[in-house]
Amino acid sequence: MDQSADRIEAVLKEERVFYPSEDFKRSALLAKPEEYQALYEESLRDPEGFWGRFAGEFHWFEPWKKVLEWNVPYAKWFVGGKTNLTYNALDRHLASRRNKAAIVFEGEPGDSRVLTYHDLHREVSKFANVLKGLGVNKGDRVTIYLPMIPEAAIAMLACARIGAIHSVVFGGFSASALAERINDAQSAVLVTADGGWRRGSVVPLKANADEALASTESVRHVVVVRRVGQEVPMLPGRDHWYHELMASASDRCEAEPLDSEHPLFILYTSGSTGKPKGVMHTTAGYMAYVALTARYVFDLKETDTYFCTADVGWVTGHSYVVYGLLLNGATTLMYEGAPNWPDEGRIWNIIDKYGVSILYTAPTAIRAFMKWGEQWPLKYRLSSLRLLGSVGEPINPEAWLWYYHVIGKGRCPIVDTWWQTETGGIMITTLPGVHPMKPGHAGKPFFGVEPDIVDTSGKTITGADEGGHLIIKRPWPSMLRTVWGDPERYERQYWSQYPGNYFTGDGARRDSDGYYLIMGRVDDVLNVSGHRLGTMEVESALVSHPAVAEAAVVGRPDPIKGEGIVAFVTLKAGYTPSDALSAELKAHVVKAIGAIARPDEIRFTEAMPKTRSGKIMRRLLRQIAAGESEIKGDTSTLEDRSVVERLKAAQ
Ligand code: PRX
Repeated sequence: MDQSADRIEAVLKEERVFYPSEDFKRSALLAKPEEYQALYEESLRDPEGFWGRFAGEFHWFEPWKKVLEWNVPYAKWFVGGKTNLTYNALDRHLASRRNKAAIVFEGEPGDSRVLTYHDLHREVSKFANVLKGLGVNKGDRVTIYLPMIPEAAIAMLACARIGAIHSVVFGGFSASALAERINDAQSAVLVTADGGWRRGSVVPLKANADEALASTESVRHVVVVRRVGQEVPMLPGRDHWYHELMASASDRCEAEPLDSEHPLFILYTSGSTGKPKGVMHTTAGYMAYVALTARYVFDLKETDTYFCTADVGWVTGHSYVVYGLLLNGATTLMYEGAPNWPDEGRIWNIIDKYGVSILYTAPTAIRAFMKWGEQWPLKYRLSSLRLLGSVGEPINPEAWLWYYHVIGKGRCPIVDTWWQTETGGIMITTLPGVHPMKPGHAGKPFFGVEPDIVDTSGKTITGADEGGHLIIKRPWPSMLRTVWGDPERYERQYWSQYPGNYFTGDGARRDSDGYYLIMGRVDDVLNVSGHRLGTMEVESALVSHPAVAEAAVVGRPDPIKGEGIVAFVTLKAGYTPSDALSAELKAHVVKAIGAIARPDEIRFTEAMPKTRSGKIMRRLLRQIAAGESEIKGDTSTLEDRSVVERLKAAQ
């Protein structure tokens, strides 16, 4: 293995190209660049024909009348059609795949369960009846706050079966983050667990839920899955054990015919304001797009065992743990716990144990694996792997090469998939049998996606490798439809900057082969370990502490997490900086948002660098946080230059 040579070269030049092997191409669903090109061109020339043909594979209670209606910035796909996503993800497979594994589950303590399509269909039908029994109607919101256990997928699918709108909240979010999301969605039911396993400890989900419910009013019923077996208080009339409700539920529940544009889910994500946005996705377009992307990007075969390490609390878990895979009748593996429990070989152990053929994970995880050392993967048989994926943040070439050589043994193509909560599905990637791979470049647009790179005036940047803003020039089926309860924010956030075009918030470059390289966010959004966090969110958490007068949060490069969080804080009179206060402020942020938002560093300062009009100059803070010795860029608008000098001196 020529790893160290690779590593040095990767730093020197990133232009090396890797080709899918002949072996991979032989059995790939798509293996010819001309085939991709023809389909891609068709998808832009005749989107209605292209998507209509593909959506025709699904079951429809009523056919659509029109494939696309586009009133900028509102798209409707498969207008007038009636379908049900769970009919297509479950019922449709019963004839041919009844006894095939739909979900393979590995719990952190080592327990394991396999749900066949038959089992999953039954469990989903039962839980759909449970929800109905609790008075959940079509259009009602159900918040799901669960660990990575099959019940999370069952609850999502049960909602989709009856037309309830799920809002999954990541189990790592705190009680107040949960309350904020329940209140915004006005959820009628909360599905949670007594706890979940994480590094051998219990995450107290029910306790968090109880705390959240003290400041919410909409929730009428709480369903509690028994996962860890701990005593938890149950409020009579409000709280119900999942297994008790399931014991008496009928296993017959026909899938509700739903309008193509019926809301499927809300998923909260961070933006550039303090309040997370409820990104709303609807039924048919999302279904078609995630199914087609899952099929072609992961080159899905009947015999694959697919393992995505994302939690269902994120969009990756929605689209590529649950929906995209089940829609294709594939086998999806869910793992509950940490990648380093009981040791750093856990992921490789799982791959060996179940014969995983496709692994989809995040660069931050890959960098952690690298740090832990290749002795861990080398202990296990990884020969079942045939395809690797990356998502969530830019992958540095060094991590790419490690993934390629140490995990894929040079046999497995890597798909570096760029997309977002808002896009619903993968937008830019190579197709594994078709395209050569360039480490660090996500690749080409998927079918139906028309990206562009523009300058701030909206003019296309034609020069190769010149940076600009990444926009999408036309609607695609799994595009978000609105921000829940705030259409104005939807219009302003995504469609006002480049009217008629979707603004991604990312910077990107395009090379002479038309490959896109994503450079990262251009707004006040951080990407910490592949998780999106708004700087304002962390700032509002900080200023809610009695000691804090003002806070400015910036990201700084982090070798494992991609980005780390540095918070500059000025204190109110009467408070003095100390390590204890720094620890208290970090804990305060964890309480307000969750552990993912814990600042790596709190830097106390007497003043912030501000413009004369009073705006904090984050650009300068970012440079200071990164430890840059020279402050670059224009500082002429600074009100008081000495603030910067003092901040630098305090490094
Ligand atoms: O900055 C991009 C980065 O993650 C952002 C979207 O975050 P989220 O909505 O949480 O969804 C993450 C999982 C789809 C994007 O705006 N991002 C995502 N994938 C990549 C990426 N950056 C570079 N390369 C990627 N493959």
